[in-house]
Amino acid sequence: MKGVILAAGKGTRLYPITRHIPKPLLPMANRLTMEYAFDQLKNCGIQDVCVVVGENEPTMRETLGDGSAFGLNLSFVRQTDPKGLAHAVGFAQDFVAGDDFVLYLGDSVYDRSLAPFVETFRQTGCVNLNLVKPVDDPRRFGVANVEGDRIVKLVEKPAEPESNLAMAGMYVFGPQLWEVLPDLTPSGRGEYEITDAIQMLIDRGNDVRAGVYEGAWFDTGTLSSFLETSRFLTQSGALVAADAKVDAELVGHVVVGAGARVAASRLEDCVILPGAHVDVAGSITGSILAGEVQSDSDLDGVIRWHEEAE
Ligand code: G1P
Repeated sequence: MKGVILAAGKGTRLYPITRHIPKPLLPMANRLTMEYAFDQLKNCGIQDVCVVVGENEPTMRETLGDGSAFGLNLSFVRQTDPKGLAHAVGFAQDFVAGDDFVLYLGDSVYDRSLAPFVETFRQTGCVNLNLVKPVDDPRRFGVANVEGDRIVKLVEKPAEPESNLAMAGMYVFGPQLWEVLPDLTPSGRGEYEITDAIQMLIDRGNDVRAGVYEGAWFDTGTLSSFLETSRFLTQSGALVAADAKVDAELVGHVVVGAGARVAASRLEDCVILPGAHVDVAGSITGSILAGEVQSDSDLDGVIRWHEEAE
């Protein structure tokens, strides 16, 4: 079993901060966001992991290296242009080389182990098992219709969902995936959808299953979900990287990343300062992902970056 992590996105929903720090490397409760993916894959017994990168390739390679610092063997492939998840995974075909593999969306953070789902994939002998989770508003996701634990139909972001089971960012595939990818066509949003690839597996009579995940699942791609995930992971209080220099009172879910220099009076609530180039004075209250704040501010749901700091 191998692992493939999709991490090629530009992180536009977190601009301007992701112009400077790739989204998978942002501090999430003072670990790299990617480390949560690494933990999950290692916990599934996976050692060999390929990260599909994009324009972030140089920083990703430099920061993550050969993976030894994280206890796994990492390699990288570059998705040449952003054409969807099924397009991205295609770049990892040579790496997977006919094995079974876990496909993990790099934005995802889970609070429970995914290992039981890999085990179910193995035990059932199915060709594909997908993590699904009941959600209140399935229209933002791929949505699965199931009969027992079989998926019979999948629709990407349906206007009128027929079930509340969202595709939840982790998929286990056998090599049959590679047979359908060449036949995919772009969806309405112009992307090669992994949902459509799986539907094609179903249409061709393959055994495709759902594994219902009952724990907390976060998709960290937007500011509100990034802050919500950070808040969840810092329930026991502020986290400050060992080499950060912080002269401030910290209250609540504050995260100060590696290399940050903070001279402020008070940081309170869900303030995330992601490391080098951070320049903060005054005090901040609220939910913010920021590189620079130079005043006493009450800020909620804000991204700030010190544009001159490049
Ligand atoms: C993608 C998938 C979707 C899945 C979601 C999970 O959507 O296409 O099926 O439910 O990830 O986060 P996207 O984030 O590309 O809109």
